[in-house]
Order: sequence, then structure tokens, then C-alpha cells
Amino acid sequence: MPRTVEIAPEHPREHAAIGALHCAAFNDTYEAAVVIGLRAGGFAIASLVSRVDGRVAGHVMFSRMTVLVDGRDVKAAALAPLAVDENWRQMGLGGKLVTAGLAMCREAGMHCVVVLGDPTYYRRFGFSLQAIAHLRTPYGPGKLMGLELVPGALAGQAGEVRYPAPFGRAQS
Ligand SMILES: CC(C)(COP(=O)(O)OP(=O)(O)OC[C@H]1O[C@@H](n2cnc3c(N)ncnc32)[C@H](O)[C@@H]1OP(=O)(O)O)[C@@H](O)C(=O)NCCC(=O)NCCS
Repeated sequence: MPRTVEIAPEHPREHAAIGALHCAAFNDTYEAAVVIGLRAGGFAIASLVSRVDGRVAGHVMFSRMTVLVDGRDVKAAALAPLAVDENWRQMGLGGKLVTAGLAMCREAGMHCVVVLGDPTYYRRFGFSLQAIAHLRTPYGPGKLMGLELVPGALAGQAGEVRYPAPFGRAQS
């Protein structure tokens, strides 16, 4: 039977399912707690679900973060966390969530996006390690990737990336 797939902003009634999804995908409660903290703190720019036949099958959060380059405060979003239910992977849902979230970040006036993750996965969306290699980050060098939504947004000599408080252990 054909299935209906949609990408849409999360609905409050889906909060529990989103938490359960992240706990299962990461085998940890950290990511679910980060999502709750970002929502509660008003940091969210986009919190999107993928639904298969109306049920949550994936979720991504984009939230406000601080990126300073040569003293410039660059409007920046953190992409985290991203998870797709293991029964629905390899079907493009993760890609659709990221692409839709990036579009919302652009509409929200963000100039760049930062992600911690496997470079092989995130390169396809245009993220690169090089884009933020000149910035100090809480994860140390070579871990975070950056994507300019506005060309030249991350250009400069030095600076830093700071995650908001709900990320807890990722704060600098
Ligand atoms: C990563 C994740 C969100 C991808 O979701 P998905 O819906 O399967 O992704 P898509 O169908 O859009 O893309 C699948 C592609 O991603 C690749 N991929 C999936 N997980 C990957 C990973 N951890 N590292 C590198 N590549 C990965 C697949 O090999 C596939 O590549 P291909 O297109 O070259 O065949 C999903 O595997 C997941 O929830 N993993 C557990 C949580 C996690 O690691 N989240 C990301 C944190 S940075």
C-alpha cells in the first residue's frame, strides 16, 4: 500500500514521540533533553518532523547559536539533533528534514548553519569542515562543520562557536 510522507513543523502532541525517537536513535537521553531545553528556552528556529502515514518517523531541530567571526556576530543556527526511526532509514527522510530546515533557516534570516556529525553525511548538503576551521569550538578542531547560507558569512581570521545552554556538555 502506498504510504503518505510529509515534512512539517512538529505539533505539541508529538513531543513525546520525538523524545522517544531520539532516545532510541542515540541510545541516550541527552538528545531528547536538548530538544526539550531548546523548545523551553525559545531557541528553536525550526523543529520539523517527518511523518509516515501520520506517525512521527523522523525529527530535526535547528536552533539559535552564537558564532563570532573577527568580532562580527554572525546570525547562526545549530543543526541538532537529527534522527530517523530505524524502520524508515535510507528512504531520504533525513535528507528531506535537513533540506526543509535549511530553507526555514534562510527564511528566518540565518547566515550560517553549524553541525556536529559525520562529514560523509553532511557534505551532501554543502557543509564543510573547512568553513569553520578558523573558529574555536567546544568540540575542538575538526569536529564541527559549517555551511554559509550567505556567501562569505564565515569568512575571516578567527572567532568562536558557542552552543546555547540546553546543549549543556557542549557549552564552551
Ligand atoms: C543519520 C540519519 C538521520 C540518516 O537518516 P536517513 O533518513 O536514513 O537518511 P537519508 O535516507 O536521507 O540518507 C541516507 C544516506 O545517509 C548515509 N548515512 C546514514 N547515516 C550515516 C552516518 N551516521 N554517517 C554517514 N552516512 C550516513 C547512508 O549511508 C545513505 O547514504 P547514500 O545516500 O550515499 O546511500 C539516520 O541514520 C539516523 O537517525 N541515525 C541515528 C542518529 C544519528 O546518527 N543522527 C545524526 C547525528 S549527526
